[in-house]
Amino acid sequence: IQFANAEDKQEFSKYPTKAGRRSLSRSISQSSTDSYSSAASYTDSSDDETSPRDKAQVNTHGSSDFCVKNIKQAEFGRREIEIAEQDMSALISLRKRAQGEKPLAGAKIVGCTHITAQTAVLIETLVALGAQCRWTACNIYSTQNEVAAALAETGVPVFAWKGESEDDFWWCIDRCVNTEGWQANMILDDGGDLTHWVYKKYPSVFKKARGIVEESVTGVHRLYQLSKAGKLCVPAMNVNDSVTKQKFDNLYCCRESILDGLKRTTDIMFGGKQVVVCGYGEVGKGCCTALKALGAIVCITEIDPICALQACMDGFRVVKLSEVIRQMDVVITCTGNKNVVTREQLDRMKNGCIVCNMGHSNTEIDVVNFKQITPQIPNGFKKLLKHVLQHLVESEQKVYPYIQLILRLLSITTTTTNISDPALALIELFNAPEGRYKQDVYLLPKKMDEYVASLHLPNFDAHLTELTDEQAKYMGLNKNGPFKPNYYR
Ligand SMILES: NC(=O)c1ccc[n+]([C@@H]2O[C@H](COP(=O)([O-])OP(=O)(O)OC[C@H]3O[C@@H](n4cnc5c(N)ncnc54)[C@H](O)[C@@H]3O)[C@@H](O)[C@H]2O)c1
Repeated sequence: IQFANAEDKQEFSKYPTKAGRRSLSRSISQSSTDSYSSAASYTDSSDDETSPRDKAQVNTHGSSDFCVKNIKQAEFGRREIEIAEQDMSALISLRKRAQGEKPLAGAKIVGCTHITAQTAVLIETLVALGAQCRWTACNIYSTQNEVAAALAETGVPVFAWKGESEDDFWWCIDRCVNTEGWQANMILDDGGDLTHWVYKKYPSVFKKARGIVEESVTGVHRLYQLSKAGKLCVPAMNVNDSVTKQKFDNLYCCRESILDGLKRTTDIMFGGKQVVVCGYGEVGKGCCTALKALGAIVCITEIDPICALQACMDGFRVVKLSEVIRQMDVVITCTGNKNVVTREQLDRMKNGCIVCNMGHSNTEIDVVNFKQITPQIPNGFKKLLKHVLQHLVESEQKVYPYIQLILRLLSITTTTTNISDPALALIELFNAPEGRYKQDVYLLPKKMDEYVASLHLPNFDAHLTELTDEQAKYMGLNKNGPFKPNYYR
């Protein structure tokens, strides 16, 4: 496992958003990224080394307005999208309900998200609702090449492939935004890089833009900073803090992806293992539930007495990390904070202890020091991380396999619940009457959040109880919602 060097950090610091995440992502071994998706590794094994930028490709409709790894993989990507659709009932039902009205007719959306089968379902829903879309990837490793090909084949200009260089990454963003005869009037961003690029290179786009929808913690943070500095030129919608994102993506998706990520990369048994989870927020709760169910002995660290009490009531011991670190087999950080695991604690861990991070960036674990103490892994061992582990454990070297990126990427493969939020946020911003939204950052209206949840219910054959007139009056509610105040989480 190699870590980003000082030059990388300097290079990335030119671009203030998500830099840490990407610099780390570049440093993760190929095996880590291959394990992200079996489909992605299918793509890689059959591909040549030529950069997509040097290839002349045309889809079957004669368009060459895209840049993907290999357009010939479109059919395989289409099958993946169709499978994803089966598990994304909310978006499909939104597509059906709103298709006649075309609420996004006239919207020209430039998007920068992970390009996976799930986001393809989102993109194709936006197109079905009337939008024109151009798309690029928010992460240099997460693109499913065959999915990008399938989108390009249907006529969505996609500029993305798995394993882009830093230069490719910004080139793709630029090709998305800067095209003759077409100007975006909406932005959908995950991480703020696209927004940053438009601000820097094409600020005139904001003269006509109706708004920005942002999906990530980092991107949202930057939008609030812009707003505070009076530099936000258009209304922005923060979908990261929607209830349907936090209570579902963070809790239930992480409950699944933590095991998926750990199993794929380490292949160890969790029954009887001593695990400490730092942070008992939504993500921590999801991780703990999953690990407990496998028979792991889980304890928690917390700074907030309420979350600590919740952990106690759920049957977990609340401890200080320093006091348990020697016994732990697995350490997982879910705080979003910095230096939660310090160099001193790393030094006191068991040989082969697995340290991983579910939080939003590479700050939770003291990565700089971590780099210094991690032994150099020979090239031959990079293919399969588990073999690396085995080798290092056998040779009794101290190793802290750091697998933040894998967990992050795997978590999006299960993120099918909240992906309707950006679609609704785009519809809301695009159709809002003049003056409803100012140049500020807004949360998705509660009613829309409730609507997203309601779209999922038929899938579970769940039937809501309707308020009677008398009950609605008694509670002071509209019978059609919203059913909770904005502050309710
Ligand atoms: N990996 C993924 O797929 C994924 C998905 C969603 C969110 N996230 C990220 O996970 C992180 C946590 O998200 P969340 O929704 O659970 O947030 P949250 O605010 O609900 O929970 C974080 C918890 O960590 C606790 N905490 C803070 N500093 C601590 C410390 N030093 N020691 C122990 N506990 C500490 C807080 O009190 C809080 O309870 C965020 O950074 C978020 O961006 C990751």
